[in-house]
Amino acid sequence: MATISGWFSQCYGRHPDAAWRAPGRVNLIGEHTDYNGGLVLPFAIGQTVRVAGAARPDGVLELASRQAPNDRVAISLDALEPGAVTGWAAYPAGVAWALAEAGHQVQGASLAIDSDLPQGAGLASSAALECAVAACSADLAGARLTRPELAALAWRAENDFVGMPCGIMDQSAAMLCQAGHALLLDCRTGESADVPLDPAGIGLQVLVIDTGVRHQLTGGEYASRRAECEQAADRLGVPSLREVTSEAALAGLADPVLARRVRHVVTENARVEDTVALLRAGRLAECGPLLTRSHESLRDDFEVSWPEADLVVGTALAAGALGARMTGAGFGGCVLALVPKDHAAAVADAVSAGFARPGLAAPSFLEVTPARGASPVIKARIR
Ligand code: GLA
Repeated sequence: MATISGWFSQCYGRHPDAAWRAPGRVNLIGEHTDYNGGLVLPFAIGQTVRVAGAARPDGVLELASRQAPNDRVAISLDALEPGAVTGWAAYPAGVAWALAEAGHQVQGASLAIDSDLPQGAGLASSAALECAVAACSADLAGARLTRPELAALAWRAENDFVGMPCGIMDQSAAMLCQAGHALLLDCRTGESADVPLDPAGIGLQVLVIDTGVRHQLTGGEYASRRAECEQAADRLGVPSLREVTSEAALAGLADPVLARRVRHVVTENARVEDTVALLRAGRLAECGPLLTRSHESLRDDFEVSWPEADLVVGTALAAGALGARMTGAGFGGCVLALVPKDHAAAVADAVSAGFARPGLAAPSFLEVTPARGASPVIKARIR
């Protein structure tokens, strides 16, 4: 694979001035809690989006992606407004827009993009793209932004420019994670802490199984879950569902659908706390049942799982996984399974066989290790 600088030179016939990589993430636990002011526990993975860039004087943003080589995009920065750019280019264009909206001097830029993160697989490839572009563009503009500020800019690009009303988890994971750790993020206060996560150190592995089913998050289900949560908070008279800490509050909701949504959020926040306590006590091997209960809650109460994910979870558990759950927004993408290393091949074989039996397309498997957040490839001016 050519380096990102090599790809940039191929596209633009010169060397880049800055280049960054930003990782995808696997969310260990804490799903659909971020936009409810809740707790999340993602970790960054080794698969990344890389962006190299050079400033240009003409106010044009030019974009070239190795994953869409026939789709070069050039747009005047003056013309950037929500809705003006669609498809993959909306993410980098949205970041340029968000930087300008935040008052930074954004000049034109040529950007080259490359990635080894599967898209639409629930591994936060959009956030990785936004964060790599944000860090690279900040470097080019000489803007001194902190990592949380860059995450917030990337989040704004996705919400207000792309139009996907996501929470802050993925962008925070891409910017803030540390190798060998998961990131505990309190989405009510913005406080974060690194929690040790070293499966290999105790003979375990987080196996990520891509079901091959792809989601379209701007398609509406995500936004409707979010709206239901806001409606439930409103009816319960609280600013966000984070304020609900006991299932007793469900009695105040006549609508059974809203009650199920709230039960998921309340129990999921508690499961994050329990998982963090176990990790801090060096008891990762005991986290399995919490992961599986999270999946059941996402399947039955939040209703964002999909049949192939349920099949993977059931099959993996039967084949010796300690716990398993869908990861990400749902409706497609990946499942994670916590497995003893010497069971990993058997679990993968059982899942493959479980897909072959009803004639489903073969799933794929990803090895993931808790990795660091975004880092400069050739130049760093920000912290
Ligand atoms: C997507 C969003 C996140 C989060 C998850 C669900 O990944 O981008 O903000 O809401 O779904 O936990």
